[in-house]
Amino acid sequence: MFTVVLTAMLSGLVAGSTPPPHGDYAATARYVVHNNDWGSLASISTHQPMKGKPFTNVFSVSDGPVGNGTGVPYLFLSPLDVTDQDLQVNNNATLSMSEVMSGYCASQKWDAEDPRCAKIILSGKVVNVPEAEIDFAKNALFTRHPIMEDWFKMESHKFYFAKMQIEAVFVLDFFGGGNIVTPEDYFNAKI
Ligand SMILES: *[C@@H]1O[C@H](CO)[C@@H](O)[C@H](O)[C@H]1NC(C)=O
Ligand SMILES: *[C@@H]1O[C@H](CO)[C@@H](O)[C@H](O)[C@H]1NC(C)=O
Repeated sequence: MFTVVLTAMLSGLVAGSTPPPHGDYAATARYVVHNNDWGSLASISTHQPMKGKPFTNVFSVSDGPVGNGTGVPYLFLSPLDVTDQDLQVNNNATLSMSEVMSGYCASQKWDAEDPRCAKIILSGKVVNVPEAEIDFAKNALFTRHPIMEDWFKMESHKFYFAKMQIEAVFVLDFFGGGNIVTPEDYFNAKI
């Protein structure tokens, strides 16, 4: 019990929350996106020797403070970062998140590739956060990634707030293959 509580605390899981039933793809997507603090973001590389190829990189993300997820993945990006440079050329991107990241799959003894260990793939465009939404993005990111306060002060890095504008959601959370969830169903899902 102690280990479970500790794991939940370490991973920033919403206290007492359990994954939605596997048939509820939209809720599962929202659950995984809210409960994870990072994801793998793919861009089309503009850098040799990977130019033109998919390039995945790890980013800290937040869709809202714990308990207040919006489903919108917010990012804190720097133009010094190679992925950001790719996105300036082509902002089509894909963000992958897995339930494995929270420790839940290990607790169930599921391998990362086990279909029951939910995998969420968000496809869309990475855009700047509009002025009116910056306070929310900042709070969403800084409450879950306190070190970002320091990055914010590093003027040379020119960090700025970005978010993924979701165009399609792919959910694999059980045997039988993945499922497409529309952005509308994704944003309407209750978790
Ligand atoms: C969630 O957001 C609402 C509206 O912005 C706010 O009233 C509420 O206090 C927030 N709850 C948490 C847990 O942050
Ligand atoms: C981004 O993807 C869309 C298809 O969703 C495509 O029409 C567009 O050309 C792509 N943008 C670039 C810069 O390649």
